[in-house]
Amino acid sequence: MTFESKIVIITGASSGIGAGAAIHFSKLGANIVITGRNEINLKEIQEKCGSKVLAIVADVNDEADRHKIINSTIENFGRIDVLVNNAGVGEAGTILTTSLEQYDKVMNTNVRSVFHLTQLATPYLIKTRGNIVNVSSVAGPRQFPNLLSYCMSKAALDQFTKCVALELAPEGVRVNSINPAFIVTNFHKRLGMNEEAYESFKLRAKETHALGRVGTTEETANAIAFLANNDLASFITGTCLLVDGGKAVMCPR
Ligand SMILES: NC(=O)c1ccc[n+]([C@@H]2O[C@H](COP(=O)([O-])OP(=O)(O)OC[C@H]3O[C@@H](n4cnc5c(N)ncnc54)[C@H](OP(=O)(O)O)[C@@H]3O)[C@@H](O)[C@H]2O)c1
Repeated sequence: MTFESKIVIITGASSGIGAGAAIHFSKLGANIVITGRNEINLKEIQEKCGSKVLAIVADVNDEADRHKIINSTIENFGRIDVLVNNAGVGEAGTILTTSLEQYDKVMNTNVRSVFHLTQLATPYLIKTRGNIVNVSSVAGPRQFPNLLSYCMSKAALDQFTKCVALELAPEGVRVNSINPAFIVTNFHKRLGMNEEAYESFKLRAKETHALGRVGTTEETANAIAFLANNDLASFITGTCLLVDGGKAVMCPR
């Protein structure tokens, strides 16, 4: 299948996994709608994506901005074929140390905004028999210390993926997620890691990932595009696809 006439929305495309997906989908010929809060970064990615790209500066936690993403897409392109719910944040913290502000930020960004944006996009996806790819994490099906609200948010996102897949299957709309482990992006530094901590975390990933290395945004982009491809992934819905270098099958011994 070609993405030539397809309209693909990617949230959080101003950095990391979303930016990688945007560049990949443009290489596949898609018209893409990229969103993010950081206008300068978004512009930079837009320039790497050629001419078939609409960039929308939007905060996914702002209700009016969520309407803006969908309305501008329809005004410009008249349809939606793929929604990639990628924008997300983490916060370090345990049950004793996570503030309610941190909890709300993570749950609002990673779950509430996805719920509402999907709700707004669904009537258009039904018309095109399109599909949704959520960017979850290995932290959905697995537990990691000091990441309580993040793990909870991604577990909720995985359940959302499966429930909505069930609801939209009769409409011919597929819903899946990718669940990455350590991918090199700005994510961990935004979590508060300094350069030194980041480098040592990256080094340790050789032992925590069965394949002995961290992943790249090209590898997540390939997985997103595979799930979004109505030919290659035509019989796949409700799947949370680990893109984790075998991290989830590792077990301390
Ligand atoms: N990197 C990893 O190891 C890893 C592993 C598993 C899952 N993930 C997931 O992958 C997704 C992307 O993360 P990343 O690794 O690419 O991190 P990143 O480089 O920090 O990128 C995060 C993206 O999300 C956007 N974003 C965050 N909050 C937003 C908001 N309120 N409104 C609009 N956009 C917002 C950011 O946009 P602005 O900068 O413009 O605000 C940015 O484009 C997240 O859902 C994350 O949970 C990452």
